[in-house]
Amino acid sequence: MNVPLLDLKAQYATIKSEIEAAVAEVMESQHFILGPKVDQCEKAVAAYSSCSHAIGVSSGSDALLACLMAENIGSGDEVITTPYTFFATAGAIARLGATPVFVDIDPSTYNINPAQIAAKVSKKTKAIIPVHLYGQMAEMDPIMQVANEHKLVVIEDAAQAIGAEYKGHRAGSIGHYGCFSFFPSKNLGAAGDGGMIVTNDAQRAEKLRIIRGHGSKPKYYHKIVGGNFRLDALQAAIVTAKLRHLDDWTAGRQRNARKYDDLFAQANLPVVTPSVVTNRHIFNQYVIRVQSRNELQAHLQKKGIGTEVYYPVPMHLQECFAYLGTKAGAFPESERAAKETVALPVYPEVSEPQLQYVVESIREFVGEAAPAMAGSFSAATK
Ligand SMILES: Cc1ncc(COP(=O)(O)O)c(C=O)c1O
Repeated sequence: MNVPLLDLKAQYATIKSEIEAAVAEVMESQHFILGPKVDQCEKAVAAYSSCSHAIGVSSGSDALLACLMAENIGSGDEVITTPYTFFATAGAIARLGATPVFVDIDPSTYNINPAQIAAKVSKKTKAIIPVHLYGQMAEMDPIMQVANEHKLVVIEDAAQAIGAEYKGHRAGSIGHYGCFSFFPSKNLGAAGDGGMIVTNDAQRAEKLRIIRGHGSKPKYYHKIVGGNFRLDALQAAIVTAKLRHLDDWTAGRQRNARKYDDLFAQANLPVVTPSVVTNRHIFNQYVIRVQSRNELQAHLQKKGIGTEVYYPVPMHLQECFAYLGTKAGAFPESERAAKETVALPVYPEVSEPQLQYVVESIREFVGEAAPAMAGSFSAATK
């Protein structure tokens, strides 16, 4: 049996005619950059995220960059974030000449540990970027509390978490900004790169609209330096069409995650499944921990099962950040997670026999391929 990590063709088969119609409409209009399709997509994503404004941009990476630019963050400034994330989070900070200041994760959720943030706030700190990793929001109450005390801007990196909720609030709606990615493997993926920023602040929204078009308003008059961060109409039309299905897909991911939990329990495997501590985890990834992670991954690959490690090297140990002078051991939970975590297929179209096959293959690895492994699964939960 084959179980890929993600099967976009399976999803496309269910929505082919809608996507073709959306693409055809843009082709007929020959209006490719911004315009009515982008406006429509922005309105739909803003409503979906309980925010009053949304600004379509070229990617999740550019969404983060544009928010930092809107806050005039640059050389001499510090921005607090997690070292256990996709590169774009820290990269956006460094690209502007600001310094990423890392705070370790809570090992049960893999999200930034709010209790450790205050100690990292300095006179230079301008912002906090919590990342809602794997589709579960970070603990926003204590994060906003520290931010409010020190007058810091909060940019939610919600690239993996569109539609997730914390205490009933949607991802992107709690901080000053929320950044989404429409990278094809995201829960709401485009047919290429794309992203969106949401905010409840009209002034910030206006500034972002200017920044995404080279800082020009009116056209050819530049008060500030921006970039080409525009979302194109084809991507916007596709995202709008797919958004109608997002809640069903999320339900499918949640169902599969619960099924894994049950199957692991039934198989009597010492796997403690991912910790869900918020109202709505959208399971962009379903991640387990195992000490012999690389061996398990190789075993699953032989069985035709796709897995991925998000992420094998925490940010403070990336070569490009060596200048920060942070040594191994500085963020032990992020470093342990980078060695022990592996994501299993959880996309909505995975069938029950496929889920059973994945769990059976893991059981086989624990029981037969590596008897010494029994008991080596460590808890991904509190
Ligand atoms: C946590 C996180 N932040 C930022 C990004 C960047 O998004 P994009 O690939 O759309 O630039 C991604 C996605 O790849 C991500 O997972």
